[in-house]
Amino acid sequence: MKDYRLKDGYSIPSIGLGTYTLKGSKGVRLMESALKQGYRLLDSAYNYENEGAVGRAVRNSSVPRDQITITSKLPGRYHRYDLALEAIEESIMRLDVDYIDLYLIHWPNPIKDLYVEAWQALITAQKAGLIRSIGTSNFLPEHIDRLERETGVLPVVNQLELHPLFNQEEVLNYHKEKDIIIEAWSPFGRGDIFGNEILTKLAAKYEVSVAQLIMRWHLQRGILPIPRTSNAGRAGENLNVHHFEINADDMAVISGLSQSDGRLKDQDPAVYQEF
Ligand SMILES: NC(=O)c1ccc[n+]([C@@H]2O[C@H](COP(=O)([O-])OP(=O)(O)OC[C@H]3O[C@@H](n4cnc5c(N)ncnc54)[C@H](OP(=O)(O)O)[C@@H]3O)[C@@H](O)[C@H]2O)c1
Repeated sequence: MKDYRLKDGYSIPSIGLGTYTLKGSKGVRLMESALKQGYRLLDSAYNYENEGAVGRAVRNSSVPRDQITITSKLPGRYHRYDLALEAIEESIMRLDVDYIDLYLIHWPNPIKDLYVEAWQALITAQKAGLIRSIGTSNFLPEHIDRLERETGVLPVVNQLELHPLFNQEEVLNYHKEKDIIIEAWSPFGRGDIFGNEILTKLAAKYEVSVAQLIMRWHLQRGILPIPRTSNAGRAGENLNVHHFEINADDMAVISGLSQSDGRLKDQDPAVYQEF
């Protein structure tokens, strides 16, 4: 699997495993299997309440720790500087690791307006060696510009809702110019698009599944998708996407499915509050 080079000098895999709802021993087994099949990035969050399972899967796995990118995220209720530092330490304790590879602010919560303070805490934690790379999730360009203005430090990753029904085309250039890797959350639109006729026809043309077609569309746009599945076979299927190339016309057809109101749950980061 190709890696993406981050502006802080580290590299991360071009595909990750979403772990929302993967909990307990069942979750551990699925994540262990995914690591065995080649996944090297696990996307967790404080709010998924599964950092324990993620840490256990990493320890059980025969893959060396330094080859796995563990991601977690800071919840909105801990944006205050001291609380954020404590939350990061708690994440590390639950994961039972020495450091977290990539830590993101889960949502900007601009109405509460404490995300710059939270960002200062991530910078401190990075300097202290608790976190390797720092990033954001659901940040609009205006939020990122403010981080840059007020702290001088840009995120290396911004994780966004991104799938064929909401392709985020208008912010791709912004992230490219700032050298920020976009990770796609709900890269399959939570499964809502598997029955789409256009995608089904295109998948048949390339002799792949709709899931594989969508994964390939993400990769060819320079995006890092983090699909979630509770099924080990489908985890392997979602990784097996390097044997075909979607042509430019078909890429445009897939991107053309996007709608301005295509967000799954209307979670607009300009107003959405997550705690
Ligand atoms: N930063 C944020 O605010 C945020 C928000 C939402 C999600 N996320 C992250 O993004 C990850 C992925 O997003 P998501 O969980 O919302 O949805 P998703 O990955 O778009 O879709 C998951 C759904 O797709 C199905 N699926 C997966 N592979 C399949 C395949 N090959 N064939 C058929 N069905 C397949 C799964 O069912 P089965 O389990 O039955 O396979 C599941 O129902 C999350 O787990 C989380 O890590 C982040």
